[in-house]
Amino acid sequence: MNQPYNDLPIGVFDSGVGGLTVLKALRDELPAEKFIYLGDTARLPYGTKSPETITRYALQVAEKLIARHIKLLVIACNTVSSVALEVLRKTCAPVPVIGVVEPGAQAACQASITGQIAVIGTESTIARGAYQQAIHAINPSAYIITKACSLFVSLAEEGWLEGDIVESIASRYLKEMLAEHPGTSPDCLVLGCTHFPLLARAIGHVAGPDVTLVDSAGTTARAIRTILIKRNLATRRSTSGQTYFLATDSASRFARVGTIFLQKTIQPEDVEIVDL
Ligand code: DGL
Repeated sequence: MNQPYNDLPIGVFDSGVGGLTVLKALRDELPAEKFIYLGDTARLPYGTKSPETITRYALQVAEKLIARHIKLLVIACNTVSSVALEVLRKTCAPVPVIGVVEPGAQAACQASITGQIAVIGTESTIARGAYQQAIHAINPSAYIITKACSLFVSLAEEGWLEGDIVESIASRYLKEMLAEHPGTSPDCLVLGCTHFPLLARAIGHVAGPDVTLVDSAGTTARAIRTILIKRNLATRRSTSGQTYFLATDSASRFARVGTIFLQKTIQPEDVEIVDL
């Protein structure tokens, strides 16, 4: 029997398990919705690849999720949101496509009092300048400093979230960023990669108590609730929705690391391996 359109799942994707930080916020905000999460674990990282490659990969992932009949697509990856949001919107229409950069920029502008904002992300996200644009669209006088912190992705995927090694890498990145922008002292640090919230404790320790860390998970989830209501797409079921997991490589690794990211046990047999 065909299910009502409103009861179709929401598709969520990232290059790996990082987007599960966004999925967690979505499940908390929208407990009755069903989700299909796809982690392109075979081709991670995206953040060091060219815009053409990132766009090609993102289109393949979106095609896979659209074929599974989703009612909305969440790009739970700052890199893809920075590079390929418009292409995905055109290709996936009429299915709405939501990225994480604008919600992250909103969170930053709400958190910063001085308007001095630091943004860390992958190489591609930082090079693309998407956060700078999105923050300036909200607060034109914001002063933004940035730093690509590619190693954080590997640390998070490895499950190394705290301790001396993580803090010494964080310290080097943050020191370099501040040295590149002498005289600045941001009061807000945007974790502009969905992998980074897992390292928040170590990064926060290094950044110090005067810097507020923000990420886009909570604001994205709230933005999606608004869109579902506005477009009359919210499920009418009141029972809790399930999540279905897809990955492009190693169900056992996805389950092991994903359990940390989602803060909920994922069994390897819950993960379907797909080919793009
Ligand atoms: N989690 C992704 C992001 O938010 C990218 C990590 C990567 O594949 O480099 O940018």
